[in-house]
Amino acid sequence: MSRIALLSEEVASQVAAGEVIERPASVVKELVENSIDAGAKKIEVMIRRGGSSMIRVADDGTGMDRDDALLCLERHATSKIRTGLDLAAISTLGFRGEALPSIASVSRFRLTTREHGALAGTDLAVNGGRIEYVRDGGDAPGTQIEARSLFYNLPARRKFLRTENTESSHVEHQLHLQAIGHPGVGFVLINDDRVIHQLPPAANLIERIRDLRGGALAAELLEVPDEEIGGVRLRGFIGKPGVSRSSRAQQLVFINGRAVENPTLNFALREGYHTALMKGQFPVTFLFLDMDPAAVDVNVHPAKREVRFRDPGDVRELLIERIRHAIEGGRAQWSATFRGAERAGAGGEGVDGLEVERGRDLAGVLPAAPPHGPAAHGYSDPPLIPVHEQVALRQDWAALPAQPEAGAPPAAQPVPRSPSPGTGADFRILGVLGLLYILMENGDGLVLVDQHAAHERILFEELRRRMETQGVPAQRLLMPVTMQLAPRDSDWVAQNLDTLQKMGIGIESFGPATWKIDAVPQFLKGNDPAPLFREIIDELRQTSATSSRMRLGEDVIATTVCRHAVKARDVLREPEMVRLIQDLLRCELPYCCPHGRPTMIQISYNELERKFGRKA
Ligand SMILES: Nc1ncnc2c1ncn2[C@@H]1O[C@H](COP(=O)(O)OP(=O)(O)OP(=O)(O)O)[C@@H](O)[C@H]1O
Ligand SMILES: [Mg+2]
Repeated sequence: MSRIALLSEEVASQVAAGEVIERPASVVKELVENSIDAGAKKIEVMIRRGGSSMIRVADDGTGMDRDDALLCLERHATSKIRTGLDLAAISTLGFRGEALPSIASVSRFRLTTREHGALAGTDLAVNGGRIEYVRDGGDAPGTQIEARSLFYNLPARRKFLRTENTESSHVEHQLHLQAIGHPGVGFVLINDDRVIHQLPPAANLIERIRDLRGGALAAELLEVPDEEIGGVRLRGFIGKPGVSRSSRAQQLVFINGRAVENPTLNFALREGYHTALMKGQFPVTFLFLDMDPAAVDVNVHPAKREVRFRDPGDVRELLIERIRHAIEGGRAQWSATFRGAERAGAGGEGVDGLEVERGRDLAGVLPAAPPHGPAAHGYSDPPLIPVHEQVALRQDWAALPAQPEAGAPPAAQPVPRSPSPGTGADFRILGVLGLLYILMENGDGLVLVDQHAAHERILFEELRRRMETQGVPAQRLLMPVTMQLAPRDSDWVAQNLDTLQKMGIGIESFGPATWKIDAVPQFLKGNDPAPLFREIIDELRQTSATSSRMRLGEDVIATTVCRHAVKARDVLREPEMVRLIQDLLRCELPYCCPHGRPTMIQISYNELERKFGRKA
């Protein structure tokens, strides 16, 4: 007896539907995409009970005539492609001719549609894939599709649905994607008769972001200016350094208007942010890549969520470069917030737009800030960074008065305000909180600086500069250490000898899988190199899996520095604080530490007034 049988049309449809329609949000996605492809300017989405009881999408797009309304329910019926060649350059969101028949096979389905100018429309119903009726309909031009009792005929599938709240939030996320992807289209989302979103057509992306996500998020974004390079146009907004989320949900990238996921994109975003992103966190992005549809294959995932690039390397490099650029560009904006509002009569020493108040007692103690750049630092020789004993990060700090005796008061340290009339100071140091946070006053209100994070950032950039130029100075060990490594680690060290040596680690081969270390970076002196070296190998090995070679050394430096940077509870005197802030502001990326944590927080007068109830 033969064991193979052809599935009935009904079961075949259900099987096919399983790939496309996973949950109510997938229905919303497919229907909204159809509406957008039909040129709709307004799309209304309505769901009940998380979409499991009802999903309705109504649009004011082209609508369909009677024949098309019937045909669109057939599998592989589409108006969007004609031949196999068209598959190579898809410019619509849909193209498979599968979505409507799939939805119709797993729900109680109703379609009403009418072309603009047509005398009558069509109203038809499908139940579990079988047409129940077709008649004239009198709705407004456009298309309205309703899917009730999703998976009613597939109890196993229905069981996989989550709570109403969870399904609703998936629907909402889907709507967000579509609304961000198509700012010119108006959207309404109604959940159990509650209007969740009412988004008028927006003039541009940022307006849509503001409408959808609020002004607070919009204010945390940097613009990636619209630019086309080599046929790839990139534009949009990304979170400022320090703005991140614990999941990828806010990391939106659209390729030719389609929200997609792609490992190349994920990698490029992370690389672009690099140290501006906290480990384990994900960026917030609203990025649009537009390119020749032939350069990207969208036919790789049943729900069209994934894409494949013809030249992933080009896309990756472009994205990394532009993001890095945007983040660096954000720096000017950032320093501006630390500038005083009233600059009249400013007389302080300007450092990158920052003017530091100098009390009379400090005048003459601080040398004028040297111009930026490694050569200008006046380092003659190492020591590079005397991390252990003090917080001084630059040699000229040595000129500063010594630190207070050990056993200094552990609580907040009041620093005398030094009124200096006529200096028009940009900020004034008020004191230190918990021996960690420097409190400052600027034109906008209160600024809190995380001393530890600030030091890390300064150290990190200093080390990186050193690595790029003459290398990190090494300190010879009295007793060289030999280490035997696992063969894989050993290969790995061999491949990265250059980087290690630039980092000030004197290392050479000493037999099979054995290495001799005879020098360590100077700022680590006193440490037993063996555990440190193992740590570095671990770090380098880990980062090599996730980062490009180019960035390897930097990543390791960041982690090493973090561990060996100034401890949080060092007591700083005012001149040291001033210097710290100056050094920080001179950094390329001053607003966060090498691990992406913020270095400074601004609490504006506005916020204070709100908190104290002076302002609504
Ligand atoms: N809201 C709508 N307004 C006008 N025409 C529509 C609408 N929805 C669907 N159609 C028509 O029905 C056809 C079938 O839709 P369906 O979603 O099943 O396939 P598709 O969009 O072509 O491809 P995919 O399966 O990839 O979504 C579409 O090609 C389109 O011509
Ligand atoms: Mg479709």
